[in-house]
Amino acid sequence: MSDINRSKSLARRQLLKLGVAGLGFGATSELYPDEAFSDPVQQQQRPDLGPAPAKLLAADPIDIVRVGFVGVGGMGGAHVRNFLKLEGIEVVALCDIDSARNQEVASWIVEDGRTHPSMYGRDETDFIRMCETEDLDLVFTATPWEWHVPVCVSAMENGKHAATEVPAAYTTEDCWKLVEYAEKYQKHCVMMENCNYDRPEMMVFHLSRLGLLGDILHAECGYLHDLREIKFSEAGEGLWRRAHSMVRNGNLYPTHGLGPVANVMDINRGDQFEYLVSMSSPSRGLQDWAMSNFPDDHPKRREQYVLGDVNTTMIRTVRGRTIYLSHDTNLPRPYSRIHMVQGTKGVFQGYPHRVHIEGLSPGHEWQDWMELRDEYDHPLWKDLEEQSDGAGHGGMDFIEDYRLVKCLREGRPTDMNVYDAAAMSVVTPLSEWSVANRSRPIDVPDFTRGKWAQWPKLEILRA
Ligand SMILES: NC(=O)c1ccc[n+]([C@@H]2O[C@H](COP(=O)([O-])OP(=O)(O)OC[C@H]3O[C@@H](n4cnc5c(N)ncnc54)[C@H](O)[C@@H]3O)[C@@H](O)[C@H]2O)c1
Repeated sequence: MSDINRSKSLARRQLLKLGVAGLGFGATSELYPDEAFSDPVQQQQRPDLGPAPAKLLAADPIDIVRVGFVGVGGMGGAHVRNFLKLEGIEVVALCDIDSARNQEVASWIVEDGRTHPSMYGRDETDFIRMCETEDLDLVFTATPWEWHVPVCVSAMENGKHAATEVPAAYTTEDCWKLVEYAEKYQKHCVMMENCNYDRPEMMVFHLSRLGLLGDILHAECGYLHDLREIKFSEAGEGLWRRAHSMVRNGNLYPTHGLGPVANVMDINRGDQFEYLVSMSSPSRGLQDWAMSNFPDDHPKRREQYVLGDVNTTMIRTVRGRTIYLSHDTNLPRPYSRIHMVQGTKGVFQGYPHRVHIEGLSPGHEWQDWMELRDEYDHPLWKDLEEQSDGAGHGGMDFIEDYRLVKCLREGRPTDMNVYDAAAMSVVTPLSEWSVANRSRPIDVPDFTRGKWAQWPKLEILRA
């Protein structure tokens, strides 16, 4: 689908949601029933699903994990490179509608001395043929957002585990759908949140497990990244990401900040997001960028955006903890995920990373995190530092892929599961609803259906 057709399709779906369809936009993909955009308040529960399982899924161990990748652009390509460095994998198939890119990534596999993968990508739904025909254990999608759920669903109903780039879904209904399919087909559906594995975030997790921060009460996090150039690029994310800013106003990318915070707060494993409120600033950044960078007659100058440049969402958990979550991608600013985690005995503050622990740090003063790193570095980073050197985003992408494959090979529950994918991704539609309703609070669906109170905490992981 071309850039503009995709945005028209998105716009049309949004208009359908608002009940004003039929304004001459192009056809909506069959994969996206209009009901998917219905009111999230109506979708708080899925009583038809029955109870969630008593134990987190541990599937049969897999000796050699046979993988099919869907979408091998920037991020998908990086995952393929990581997988080629892992033991016990075979890249069996690639599916990308950009055949030149598909061939390029296939050539890396052959250069690595492996068999040429089967190639898919005749059209946007060719991943279905791949899932139906290929003998795969895992389907890994790094497509634009609108394809994550269709690919995962197709993988699971064809007996494969699914892994998806972030966010896993962006409607409440689709979040439930992932849970439904994972339970029905007894397959993993993992949202690949690489920031859970970044070194500072993992050190905070370790500090918190060791009790050094005391009881965690509050966190601040987000995705603060000037994406203007990327959104207006003529390649990669420029072909699809900006379109979401034309029709959606909320936190469109919550999981990089929220993932690590959810881990230290034991979300789905002892606590649960209960409700949220959200508000957005005016929308100026993309318009201003287009005006400054394109000539008078350029069509991108005429695009209209609704995404507030800074979205702020506050989440309260069942145990009363609070989370400030920000989305800020359209204004000039240095990169940050904030990553502040505060407990009864100490606080970690990211960007720049520093710590204050009562009794350990000098009174009322920060310590640079590097002063504590030798002692409190997460064991997984100690184990994998050398192997991850040179991999994407400072090595964390390799560690996340390593952990996924290890869990599959050993038949263990994955570090991140479908309930995490749903709980974090659903923040997007709920924030959109709250922004559109004068920041009214909205309940976060309990995808675990009460099991969050009994599922075990995530352990301190080793390689
Ligand atoms: N975790 C991270 O740090 C991180 C970083 C960047 C992107 N991402 C996520 O990764 C995903 C992909 O982003 P990207 O930057 O790689 O984008 P990209 O545009 O570079 O790559 C997307 C690829 O998907 C292909 N594609 C599109 N529709 C397809 C379809 N129906 N079937 C098969 N292939 C299809 C495109 O041709 C392209 O090669 C997004 O979900 C994004 O949010 C995550």
